[in-house]
Amino acid sequence: MQESRYEAPKSRRKLVVGNWKMNGDRAANGALIDALRAGLEAGPEGGPDTDANGAAVALCVPFPYLAQVAGALDGSSIALGSQDASEYANGAYTGEVSVAMLKDFGCAYAIVGHSERRTLFGDTDERVALKAERVIAGGLVPIVCVGETGMEREQGRAEEIVAAQLDAVFERIGVAGMAASVVAYEPVWAIGTGRTASPEEAEAMHAMIRGHLAERDAAAASRLLVLYGGSVKASNAASLFGRDDIDGGLIGGASLVAEDFMGIVRAAVGTS
Ligand code: 13P
Repeated sequence: MQESRYEAPKSRRKLVVGNWKMNGDRAANGALIDALRAGLEAGPEGGPDTDANGAAVALCVPFPYLAQVAGALDGSSIALGSQDASEYANGAYTGEVSVAMLKDFGCAYAIVGHSERRTLFGDTDERVALKAERVIAGGLVPIVCVGETGMEREQGRAEEIVAAQLDAVFERIGVAGMAASVVAYEPVWAIGTGRTASPEEAEAMHAMIRGHLAERDAAAASRLLVLYGGSVKASNAASLFGRDDIDGGLIGGASLVAEDFMGIVRAAVGTS
């Protein structure tokens, strides 16, 4: 196992987050949550340990299903999250969903700056930073997504691009804000493509991300959770999560299939 350059990496509890994206319906959601709860909460013999000694698990679901999933997760250790949040508090912003509304439905996390929002819906670095700030102010944890395109990696600019995305957020929320955030490194070329970053490629970027925060606050950097996302499957999760600076995953396609997602959670528990 590669040694981390930073202190106490083992104090970080792994986190596995499902990002359902624009998928699901009432019937499928109900069946998926039932299967996850049966598998993950079955106790020592039946499933992985998702209590304080194991891994934390969260599901980021489409806005219309927050109420349904919040109800289905009642009494569960699985946390709820959204896939985006408005940078505005409230008011005349047709189509937007505020952090206060997310909190009202029991969300603990909100993804901000997912590459699909950046490339398809015009979320700029500046807007992502405003959203992260708003999420923290509302008492939720932002999962701040960063990642380079395939072309940027080919040009040798991957670290520069990711650092610039991080800096835009740092500048607005500061070290205290970053300490209240989770970062997800999602190389755009690995999302939904079946092509995962190698554990070495991912670890190098994760170490860079942690190092970037360590330049400002080493203790906060050692506690920061940095998730990897991009074609994570049960079969490759353990090799990624086994790296010292990879603290779990942000899972797209595989989070829609109970067995696949539970296999990834098991890998996180097994590498905790
Ligand atoms: P896939 O796991 O489907 O590649 O998606 C990753 C992702 O974008 C999670 O936010």
